[in-house]
Amino acid sequence: HRIVRIGLAGLGNVGAGVYKNLAKNAGLLRERTGCLLHVSKVAVRDLSRSRDCEVPEPILTTDWRDLVNDPKIDVIVELIGGTETAFELVSAALHAKKPVVTGNKALLAERGQELFALAEVNRTPIYFEAAVAGGIPIIQTVQEGFVGNHIRSIHGIINGTCNYILTRMRDAGISYQEALDEAQKLGYAEADPTLDVSGWDAAHKAIILASLSYGYWVKPEDVLVEGIQNIHLADMAFADKLGYGIKLLSVIRADAEGRVEVRTQPSLLPKSHILASVGGAYNAVLVNGDIVGETLFYGKGAGQDPTSSSVISDLAEAAATLVFGARHSGFVPHGLYGKGKPIDE
Ligand code: HSE
Repeated sequence: HRIVRIGLAGLGNVGAGVYKNLAKNAGLLRERTGCLLHVSKVAVRDLSRSRDCEVPEPILTTDWRDLVNDPKIDVIVELIGGTETAFELVSAALHAKKPVVTGNKALLAERGQELFALAEVNRTPIYFEAAVAGGIPIIQTVQEGFVGNHIRSIHGIINGTCNYILTRMRDAGISYQEALDEAQKLGYAEADPTLDVSGWDAAHKAIILASLSYGYWVKPEDVLVEGIQNIHLADMAFADKLGYGIKLLSVIRADAEGRVEVRTQPSLLPKSHILASVGGAYNAVLVNGDIVGETLFYGKGAGQDPTSSSVISDLAEAAATLVFGARHSGFVPHGLYGKGKPIDE
């Protein structure tokens, strides 16, 4: 096995999840990728902060440049959030020809065009499955699964925090603030939850999906964004009486002339609508392609484990591409690791 050395920037909720889950499923990942995915350095902002995973002292640093400058490190994982230091880090990694895995939707929605141009020039990829809809592999789906389709529209519930808040208000009758506190405790919200409740986190994800679907970079100022801060229990009760639920919905669609509309706003959905039953921190993305028709993807859209599942998927892809140029034969066995056998044995 080739060892692929990872430099991990950020050990918050998702970073810690990546570290723990890489260790948990190390054997399985080694078998499936042919590589040993090894975290060899971790950059954090504050060494003294307590965190929910055990990382050996000697591999910690407070300077992200240590990751980029270490010639032994093959791949950089950016999970620090924000758009300033994260931009410096990702561009430095690309200049150093180190593939980047990121979950940073704000960074890609605001500066994706520059970063992907830099990736192109340096022939070094950026992987970003974790940036949209947490554990749902929607990036891979839109980029690869539907490569032969014109995308007609995408309708998504793509902010776990808002969906959690709206669900708790409706089902438990608790206030907006109480529900937000819960979402923060459960690790769904961004470090600054204003991004979630203002609708901007979902809008960033919609910008990424729209840009991928329609082949140009959608500008944040061209997106209609409205958050859930002004939704009251009374609104929910009224909606309910009329047969509707309130969801923070992101809509991406092109008209007959190819003009693209992107919006994120609280929306009334008939209770019978397929997206109306999506509750808690779950996300769902309804994609309509001209060949495939309507398809629906559902899963946890926020939180430590689902999001690290997507980061790890990108890491596996990055590692296999670095070492073998591509994944083995194209057939990636997904049996129970070491335990799968025919049913009659
Ligand atoms: N804060 C985000 C959410 C995390 O609640 O959806 C996943 O991107």
